[in-house]
Amino acid sequence: MESELSAAVAHLKAGGLVVFPTETVYGLGADADNPLAVRRIFAAKGRPLSHPLIVHLAPSAEPREWAKWSTEAQVLADAFWPGPLTMVLNRAPGVCDEVTAGLNTVGLRVPAHPLAQALLTAFGGGLAAPSANRFGRLSPTTAAHVHGTFDESVQVLDGGPCSVGIESTIVDLSGPRPAILRPGGIPIEDIEALVGSLAHSNTPAPGALAKHYAPRTTLLLTEQPAKEAARLRSLGRQVEVLRMGEPVESARKLYAELRRLDGMGVDVLVAERAPKRGLGLAINDRLERAARGSGAKAD
Ligand code: TXA
Ligand code: MG
Repeated sequence: MESELSAAVAHLKAGGLVVFPTETVYGLGADADNPLAVRRIFAAKGRPLSHPLIVHLAPSAEPREWAKWSTEAQVLADAFWPGPLTMVLNRAPGVCDEVTAGLNTVGLRVPAHPLAQALLTAFGGGLAAPSANRFGRLSPTTAAHVHGTFDESVQVLDGGPCSVGIESTIVDLSGPRPAILRPGGIPIEDIEALVGSLAHSNTPAPGALAKHYAPRTTLLLTEQPAKEAARLRSLGRQVEVLRMGEPVESARKLYAELRRLDGMGVDVLVAERAPKRGLGLAINDRLERAARGSGAKAD
């Protein structure tokens, strides 16, 4: 792993792309200070240039080099970094437009995964990284999920299965009042306990599209999966069911299960809606987008 890590650092320094594990999902990383390298991320993913990227930092990095810091940012960083929280802050001068998509803000996150931290520490700078999937597809939570997604110039670091399994919670601290841009790995209630109730931004994160995380099989979301599956089977459809268990475990397995079920070649996937609190909110958010983008139309 030591030599793989130094190869990855050299590759990043040369403007190359490296897939690395985080506790949420695998990221497709590039040197956040190298506009050409950052553009390669958009080309590799097939992602519109108008969707900004999160800058990942080592625990020892100085976030003030990237953004205007505040008391609220410090409170949330103390509580949730390293971890699955991204803060959108007013950007510092010098942060490149390729990362921020020309916005005045930048998203920052310190990941908790030990291999992500080792890479960031050895690299010594910020890594711009979206999830390591093609645009609109399911995020990878193992290195095997990334297999075949990008060309051979992209180095892949294997850090095992992601422990959180869904993307970070994104909180916008750039305005007068903190706002939630995307539910994720840190429950909204835990954030509100520290900074008060979060506004629901009417400008959602660019790229937080209604259709996203899409399996190829049609996906239906319901409170009553057994009943819905029985109804569909009575119509002669082949059905697989995704059940919700305990939320932390369900989040961890969500994308791997969707991939597995999507590979079974049935007509319809029926997913059980999660309870509307804690991680359940983030799970339902992903399932709703997956449902809207699902089916042959996802291509
Ligand atoms: O857990 C995660 O957040 C993973 C891992 C790899 O860190 N990353 C991730 O990146 O999910 P991505 O690019 O798939 O989703 C990031 C979201 C996008 O919807 C993007 O528009 C939003 O964050 N975002 C990034 N910077 C932003 C900014 N300055 N203002 C508003 N939204 C921003
Ligand atoms: Mg993504």
